[in-house]
Amino acid sequence: MIRPIVLYGSPILRQKAAPVDLADPALPQLIEDLWDTMYNAEGVGLAAPQIGVSKQAFVIDAKALQEPDEPPFRGVFLNPKILQAEPACVPHEEGCLSLPGLRERIYRPAAITVAYYDEKGQLQEKKLSGIVARIFQHEYDHLLGQLFIDYLSPLKKQLIRPKLREIQQGLIEAAYPTLYAV
Ligand code: NI
Repeated sequence: MIRPIVLYGSPILRQKAAPVDLADPALPQLIEDLWDTMYNAEGVGLAAPQIGVSKQAFVIDAKALQEPDEPPFRGVFLNPKILQAEPACVPHEEGCLSLPGLRERIYRPAAITVAYYDEKGQLQEKKLSGIVARIFQHEYDHLLGQLFIDYLSPLKKQLIRPKLREIQQGLIEAAYPTLYAV
């Protein structure tokens, strides 16, 4: 089911998400809703808090941003952890379905080692790099109540303030159903 995407300004986006109970009978529906909502909004990743569920779950389908020769990266990530991050950071332009119309250059570690449970409840450990590492870190931040704009300089934050206010007040038209002040 396509659910509205919670916009910037909603307290749920600033909360720390709770671990998922892997045996929760509601989990398959949550995962399905994340996929439906992400694809409808043409996103490459979506975290549960963005559909109003404060749980440690996100989905990624990086295909649209990957090189054609790269193996397509698609998956469900439950109770994820970043075990290790390379000290070197690289810049990349980021956007977020909860912040429509905003795109900014953000520096993040180029490669990370992660652990998570997949949708079958299997524990996985992987080393990620490139765009896949980028998306994972962005979605993981959502589970900590963090957004990419938190990494901007004070000056840059100042500059985007009017835009943030518009989003917060529901004055922004997005190409997908949205919800604010949740
Ligand atoms: Ni986001």
